[in-house]
Amino acid sequence: MTVSTGPVPRPELSGLAAYSSVAPGPVPVRVRASSNEAPGGLAGPVLDAAVAAVGGASRYPLIGGGDLAAALASSLGVAADAVAVADGALPLLDRLLLAYVRPGDEVVMAWRSYEAYPLSVQVAGGRPVGVPLTADGAHDLPAMAAAVGPATRIVLVCNPNNPTGTVVPWDALVSFVDALPPDVLVVLDEAYTEYDERPRPDDAAVAALADRGNVVVLRTFSKAHGLAGLRAGYLVASSAVAGAVRSVLPPFPVSSVAVAAALASLAHPDVLADRVAGTRVERSRVRALLAARGLPALPSSANFVWLPLAERAVDFADLCRAHGLLVRPFAGEGVRITVGDPHLRAVLGEVLDVWCRG
Ligand SMILES: Cc1ncc(COP(=O)(O)O)c(C=O)c1O
Repeated sequence: MTVSTGPVPRPELSGLAAYSSVAPGPVPVRVRASSNEAPGGLAGPVLDAAVAAVGGASRYPLIGGGDLAAALASSLGVAADAVAVADGALPLLDRLLLAYVRPGDEVVMAWRSYEAYPLSVQVAGGRPVGVPLTADGAHDLPAMAAAVGPATRIVLVCNPNNPTGTVVPWDALVSFVDALPPDVLVVLDEAYTEYDERPRPDDAAVAALADRGNVVVLRTFSKAHGLAGLRAGYLVASSAVAGAVRSVLPPFPVSSVAVAAALASLAHPDVLADRVAGTRVERSRVRALLAARGLPALPSSANFVWLPLAERAVDFADLCRAHGLLVRPFAGEGVRITVGDPHLRAVLGEVLDVWCRG
């Protein structure tokens, strides 16, 4: 008699690390600064639109989130078929990997970067190739270009980078893309782009880059738009690449409620701009507070700051948690603190009082 071991998942899935989250500590949570969310709930007109859409949610949304894709294409000045929408940037990245990565293909990325990247690449059957950040937490583009080989299918550029908050200058980015083989797809993950204060290329320049055929611009409504719990994201690429991603997406990749909220957020750029401006102000204040206590954070272009605390990272995060402040430690590397919550500085100040005494 043969002994059945039960159904066996694909070998790539064994030993896969879990996407981590920061668990609350012994005291009630006062400020959640561990997941780079926007504070304060949905803005008025966005909330109204989402609530109104719930009543009609017995119907399917449009196929492919067509209404949201059309609005995005028209605001970005690209063809409608150059946009693909789904329930977040990460699900879109997963579909892109599904469409382009064959078993054993390599995906080059800076490391440390967004923790989901290597997991997604492994799930797709690919091999993540991490290229160390420079000493100041930035992408090392020459080293990344050198890591591209015959097996490389995709290069991920997280800009601004999670968790260090650093950015790649636009000119360097364009030269980097120019120097890569045309069959290597470059994914520019712009999840935090709204928080970047540098004069940025206009949407036409971004769209022109995406139109090259081997560049994908990935964006989300989870961060500055504040819709993390509703789930909506999009990518802009050539029609061929966006079409390949659409072909592996489910027919209804984004809910009607998320579409309504995303459309309302796009229709109120003033609300978005106010929230982003508030977060940028908080970011400078938090950096100033940390610097005043001898803990300089890296300059950041995102809604978080990075403290390169190395071996002290986990201790610092544990102390924060004991004060009801959730921050994200990366053992042996540093601590990422999401900014924007107006109560953050008060609680962080209490933590720093104890930390600096110890
Ligand atoms: C760099 C980066 N890309 C993508 C995502 C995921 O975005 P979404 O919520 O749209 O899936 C995150 C979320 O933290 C992120 O930090």
